[in-house]
Amino acid sequence: MVQIRPAAAQELKRLLHQHTAHTGSSSQICLTLEPGGCADWTYQLTSNITPQRPLATLTCGDINLAVPVDQVELVEDLTIDYAEDLMGGGFRFTNPLAQRTCGCGNAFALSADTPVTQDCTAAHLPTP
Ligand code: FES
Repeated sequence: MVQIRPAAAQELKRLLHQHTAHTGSSSQICLTLEPGGCADWTYQLTSNITPQRPLATLTCGDINLAVPVDQVELVEDLTIDYAEDLMGGGFRFTNPLAQRTCGCGNAFALSADTPVTQDCTAAHLPTP
């Protein structure tokens, strides 16, 4: 079961309220895993759901998360938190399935052998 910590729930509700204020329509939070980034998978949280594939709805307290059906098993024990630091606020993900996690925590690998970057900016520097 996905667990959403109180700080993350508060931020997700704020984003949903903001989405509703801008579009005039209510929405749902969608959690997807996108391939690539600094590891195998990168977490994406959006309030704009474009159902390009079947979605499951996971009830996490008073928040419903839409998750692609084929990714439910990759996030089923995920914990989502939210924290502020000197660089700004951001969601924090803790996934017991992750064998390796990137430096910022937004990307993970399922294999301990997968190369994982510890710094996004270093990953995208042009090679000399
Ligand atoms: S996604 Fe690049 S360091 Fe985390």
